[in-house]
Amino acid sequence: MSNMIETKGLIFEYIGNDDDRVTAVKNLSLNVKKGEFVVIIGHNGSGKSTLAKLINAILLPSKGKVYVDNMDTFEEEKLWDIRQRAGMVFQNPDNQIVATIVEEDVAFGPENLGIDPPNIKKRVEESLKALGVYELRRKPPHLLSGGQKQRVAIAGVLAMKPQCIIFDEPTAMLDPSGRNEVMDAVEKLKEEGITIIHITHFMDEAVYADRVIVMEDGKIALEGKPKDVFSKVEKLKELGLDVPGVTLLSHSLNKEGINISKDILTVDEMVSELCQLL
Ligand SMILES: Nc1ncnc2c1ncn2[C@@H]1O[C@H](COP(=O)(O)OP(=O)(O)OP(=O)(O)O)[C@@H](O)[C@H]1O
Ligand SMILES: [Mg+2]
Repeated sequence: MSNMIETKGLIFEYIGNDDDRVTAVKNLSLNVKKGEFVVIIGHNGSGKSTLAKLINAILLPSKGKVYVDNMDTFEEEKLWDIRQRAGMVFQNPDNQIVATIVEEDVAFGPENLGIDPPNIKKRVEESLKALGVYELRRKPPHLLSGGQKQRVAIAGVLAMKPQCIIFDEPTAMLDPSGRNEVMDAVEKLKEEGITIIHITHFMDEAVYADRVIVMEDGKIALEGKPKDVFSKVEKLKELGLDVPGVTLLSHSLNKEGINISKDILTVDEMVSELCQLL
């Protein structure tokens, strides 16, 4: 399978006013395959958002390269191609919604791409339906719940027909039901073959990933399948991260000599393992 995103020896340094420097990304090499669902975790300041902005060409590398579908983000004339190919969804839906009516907001991206009006209409309709917010199409966004607004923002990105979407903590400002709405939507986009890079602080959102990447101090500290990563409970604690509650429980029960695996990731798995002990 070919790469959707590739970074090579990527370094990014913020240069402040009085010339103070922070190296936020340190020699990071990463490949994300087409169709892959990658979750990035890491404590505050580990460089996750900086990496996301480098992928979306909002920032350009201080050293090294970023390729989006084989396009070098340094190539200015490819900028809109890159942004269309790899869309980005941020934490705060209010900062992403620009129009006063939902369907107009979703139309904004395809309009900017120069798509003809009948096709814009079709894309808007499809995207709103895919995100389950079609019935809200004539509403002003400010009347929607956080979860609904965020789904409208995602629909706006989807209407540009991206191959990849980078989510930077899309659920951080939502209540639990809003979080579920958005995560169900993300799952669905993955099923449709869209490459997903999902940055989150919620460990339970990481368990369905194809691959979990743990960042620490601008580098990749750990990566692998969710089970491999979350079974390293001590290492994750060292990195200042939580482990999903149910994984901790399985770890502790296992330590106490109870015969269940110590890397259980979901409640369903826990239930089926416990039932086997009866
Ligand atoms: N605009 C900026 N100017 C200077 N330094 C910055 C800027 N943005 C981020 N940094 C620094 O770069 C480092 C990485 O920040 P970044 O926002 O990428 O981390 P993060 O992993 O996304 O954190 P969080 O989990 O809090 O969102 C931090 O040390 C941060 O203070
Ligand atoms: Mg961040």
